[in-house]
Amino acid sequence: AYNMAKLLCDKYYMASPDLEIEEVNASNSQQPISIVYVPSHLYHMLFELFKNAMRATVESHENSPRLPAIKVMVALGQEDLSIKMSDRGMGVPLRKIERLFSYMYSTAPTPQLGTGGAPL
Ligand SMILES: Nc1ncnc2c1ncn2[C@@H]1O[C@H](COP(=O)(O)OP(=O)(O)OP(=O)(O)O)[C@@H](O)[C@H]1O
Ligand SMILES: [Mg+2]
Repeated sequence: AYNMAKLLCDKYYMASPDLEIEEVNASNSQQPISIVYVPSHLYHMLFELFKNAMRATVESHENSPRLPAIKVMVALGQEDLSIKMSDRGMGVPLRKIERLFSYMYSTAPTPQLGTGGAPL
């Protein structure tokens, strides 16, 4: 999902942030984490989050020489596996947080036909 988002980001912005992954297996720190989940659903969620994180990072660092990496932590606790993604974009103000869960909400420009694909 990161690689696909990176491909789009490079094409649209000619730059993209790196990825730093941290794995935390709480019950057995030596063992790698494995997960049982529908792969296409997980891919879809991560792809959307990576696109958002990349857009926020690139657009808030237009005048800086380096892009801060996107950080992902995969943590397996006693019962649940959590995936946390964080970026150093400009963040979202609290008053707009509710809107993010509305499927049709977007601040991205409307894609134009024939201009080589949708923006991030
Ligand atoms: N990581 C982020 N940092 C800052 N703002 C964000 C972040 N993720 C989402 N947002 C804000 O929330 C809005 C909604 O995100 P959402 O993914 O629903 O739509 P979108 O990225 O604008 O378009 P698309 O439907 O193509 O993903 C974004 O337009 C952006 O303003
Ligand atoms: Mg998005």
